Amino acid sequence: KKRNPLPDDIRAAKGGTPLVSLTAYTTPMAQMMDAHCDFVLVGDSVGMVLHGLPSTLGVTMEMMILHGQAVARGLTSAMMVIDMPFGSYEESREQAFRNAARLMAETGAGAVKLEGGVEMADTIAFLVARGIPVMAHIGLTPQSINTLGGYKVQGRGAARDEALADADAVAQAGAFAVVLEKVPETLADEITARVSIPTIGIGASAGCDGQILVVDDMLGLFTAFKAKFVKRYAHLGDDGAAAIAAYAEEVRARTFPAAEHVFADAAAKK
Ligand code: KIV
Ligand code: NA
Repeated sequence: KKRNPLPDDIRAAKGGTPLVSLTAYTTPMAQMMDAHCDFVLVGDSVGMVLHGLPSTLGVTMEMMILHGQAVARGLTSAMMVIDMPFGSYEESREQAFRNAARLMAETGAGAVKLEGGVEMADTIAFLVARGIPVMAHIGLTPQSINTLGGYKVQGRGAARDEALADADAVAQAGAFAVVLEKVPETLADEITARVSIPTIGIGASAGCDGQILVVDDMLGLFTAFKAKFVKRYAHLGDDGAAAIAAYAEEVRARTFPAAEHVFADAAAKK
């Protein structure tokens, strides 16, 4: 793994060893994954997995900046990408630039990610031309659940051509990579073959140029629901609940704190 990869290094990884990525929202999580990931995404999924929001729509610039700053403190080698939250970039390319610049300046992120295909191509080109590397995100775009009609697989059947057009549009606009979320495997493979930038799959295909998961999902920390595309590599939520139950029992039995956790009087100190 290259130290401190830049967007151009990510772009150059097209067709090579798959890019490894996870989301992070806090310093310790960022530290845990820093040595293993090519890039770390401060995802707006933070709203759902850490703040208990029902969707990503309620995530604010201030939340992204605070979590971005925390993640930056935990990274020394992985690149950091930060999500633009709902409402911070859709209105105009100027609005998008203003908020993307603020996210990068206040967190130290090396790039921003925003959702959308053909309709966001102008904005992507505007940002890239002004010094802001952009990761695109097409297929299922969770900020649009209210118009997509839920968290359904995207790009099936007649919608396939629209998804291909979205992929072409963001690549031509200058995005350095594109997240493909919850699309059929054959569509992900077709997009990966036709665009010159790396595809980062989540619920897409092992043939993508990289993969990303929400870290709380893959660690089994977020258990409100589990998407089909999530693989749980650990069950930290269950482990945590068992640890808390053991603590509660020991407190009530007065077996915690034990001798090694308490202090002698200063005069008697060894
Ligand atoms: O917010 C997020 O976690 C994301 C990834 C799932 C791609 O956008
Ligand atoms: Na996101």
